[in-house]
Amino acid sequence: MTEGLFRVRLDVPAENADAALAAALATGVQGVEVRDAETGGPPSGRVYLILWHADRAEDPTHRRAVAEALRRSAGHDAQVSISAEGDQWTALLAAHLSPCPLGKSFIALPPGATPPTGRRPLRIETGGGFGSGMHPTTALCVDLLEPLISPETRVLDVGCGSGVLALAALLLGARSAVGVDIDSVALAAAARNAAHNGVADRALWRGTIPPQPADLVLANLYPGPLTQLAPQLSQSVQGGGDLVISGFRTPQREAIEAVYERHGLHVVDAHSRAGWHGLILNFHPETSRR
Ligand SMILES: C[S@@+](CC[C@H](N)C(=O)[O-])C[C@H]1O[C@@H](n2cnc3c(N)ncnc32)[C@H](O)[C@@H]1O
Repeated sequence: MTEGLFRVRLDVPAENADAALAAALATGVQGVEVRDAETGGPPSGRVYLILWHADRAEDPTHRRAVAEALRRSAGHDAQVSISAEGDQWTALLAAHLSPCPLGKSFIALPPGATPPTGRRPLRIETGGGFGSGMHPTTALCVDLLEPLISPETRVLDVGCGSGVLALAALLLGARSAVGVDIDSVALAAAARNAAHNGVADRALWRGTIPPQPADLVLANLYPGPLTQLAPQLSQSVQGGGDLVISGFRTPQREAIEAVYERHGLHVVDAHSRAGWHGLILNFHPETSRR
């Protein structure tokens, strides 16, 4: 593929970031980075959403129209800037992925890159799907899932993006993993990543949540989908499994916990990073690790 790439940077108030990101994802964005004050973004209270587009990048009028539509969808007080990048977009995205330690043992890095000694490679090409491993919520989920994997574990990863969480679970020895995403580009990247990591025979990628229960459900989503999917995610662990959720910040945590409490799920462990939270929930409060 030799498509060009252009980058739109939205500078939005932190409280609008989730809604702005959801609106941007609906416009065919090919790759996303979220940067706050602690990860190279603007001063506290604002967030950069860096959105990569590969459609008609050579056309400056089109680039401006996309940027303006994104600014409008990001709501009041959003600022926008655009830059054109003439390179092959997947190569450019890959160049922006620095090897990133994940959990106790992994390092996420592009296929072909040499891992440092002492860390186990988790090979990821984003192919446009979220999930390079660099986002704090991805790291939180890997921290939380690591101690939950056994050779019997059947994993369901909802909002799998490029597959990073399901792949981490499979590399840790999980029996099988089903990754679900509404983005077909992400699913294709996830399937390629399963092959890059030698676990394709234990992985399945699909567009809808299967009815079968799982031993471990991973859901690194946004507050909206986490709320809407609560009935299905709860159902998936009804047989006694654990649910790991992330993708929300401190102001949203109480509401998210309350949604899952209503479905009978209790928080048994909680971690946070850079203002983001990750929780383990299940139907057995006596297993609390908090
Ligand atoms: C924050 S990314 C997480 C990606 C990856 N699991 C990670 O941890 O890096 C969220 C993903 O959820 C997907 N998504 C959003 N709404 C969804 C829904 N209702 N059902 C399934 N996937 C959804 C998006 O397409 C995106 O790939």
